[in-house]
Amino acid sequence: MAVLKPALEQIAEDIDASFDALLAVAGDPRDRLIEAMRYAAIGGGKRLRPLLLTATAGMFGVDRASAVRAGTALEAVHVYSLIHDDLPCMDNDATRHGKPTVHIAYDEATAVLAGDGLHVFAFEVLSDPAMSGDPFVRIELVRTLAMASGANGMAGGQMMDIAAETASFDLPTVTRLQQLKTGALLAAGVEMGAILGRVPPEGRTHLRGYARDIGLAFQIADDLLDTEGDEAVAGKALRKDAERGKETFVSLLGVERAREQAKMLVEQAVQHLASYGPEADVLRAVARFIVERDH
Ligand code: IPE
Ligand code: IPE
Ligand code: MG
Ligand code: MG
Ligand code: MG
Repeated sequence: MAVLKPALEQIAEDIDASFDALLAVAGDPRDRLIEAMRYAAIGGGKRLRPLLLTATAGMFGVDRASAVRAGTALEAVHVYSLIHDDLPCMDNDATRHGKPTVHIAYDEATAVLAGDGLHVFAFEVLSDPAMSGDPFVRIELVRTLAMASGANGMAGGQMMDIAAETASFDLPTVTRLQQLKTGALLAAGVEMGAILGRVPPEGRTHLRGYARDIGLAFQIADDLLDTEGDEAVAGKALRKDAERGKETFVSLLGVERAREQAKMLVEQAVQHLASYGPEADVLRAVARFIVERDH
């Protein structure tokens, strides 16, 4: 774990600085929107997706500034997904990252627009020539993040997650739900790091196996935290899944088997990295952190 703490601290600092620089207040009536975007994006979250991106990019000698820039785009989509996830029409949550959610601190319309703004901000950042001098790299980054965000990724998973409140899904269906809702954006971090590192698709097999396993383990950990976590530490409301009768890994497997499953997935994820040396140590540490975390 020795490599993890400095990596988490550094990525938090870098992503905050990057959002601060890229989201400039306009000095006109749009300021409320930009302030709401900054309120959601700066100073919160574990920054796991950008960490996966920078850690993977680092394995292939990518300069850190480029990896942080791509990580900012990926985190912007994640932050947008949380703003909308917390809205009254979705999870109706009043606290995120230990502070009022955007629709509470501002209002619902501003929260919808702040989500919209961050969603497209991601693609502005990736498509900017400052991202990479190579237009093929830029378009591959854009496409990867787009695929992970829409109906074949996060948004599709969120739709299934809503359905999980009333339908009784089986384990393969819940697995698919979680892969889309959570796994897709986490996997995009690894994939975008590999794109920046110019790893050809056929060279990404082990990294994709790792990403798939940690994605599932991550969501099992989120479901376990919802069941047994501490709200003050998590910085968000918990016990929501059972309250809403939502089918999750925990509802299907029970706490003990869900925890075992998450641990098994982490071991499997680490196995996928067997062909890499110490350059993959941050990815190994992230895999372990994902199930050991308390927030
Ligand atoms: C929370 O994700 C939402 C899910 C996808 C389950 P994270 O736990 O990565 O959120 P933050 O950004 O670190 O708070
Ligand atoms: C949110 O999942 C996932 C996305 C925003 C894509 P949850 O609803 O389980 O996340 P929390 O528990 O509110 O963080
Ligand atoms: Mg939700
Ligand atoms: Mg939620
Ligand atoms: Mg949750």
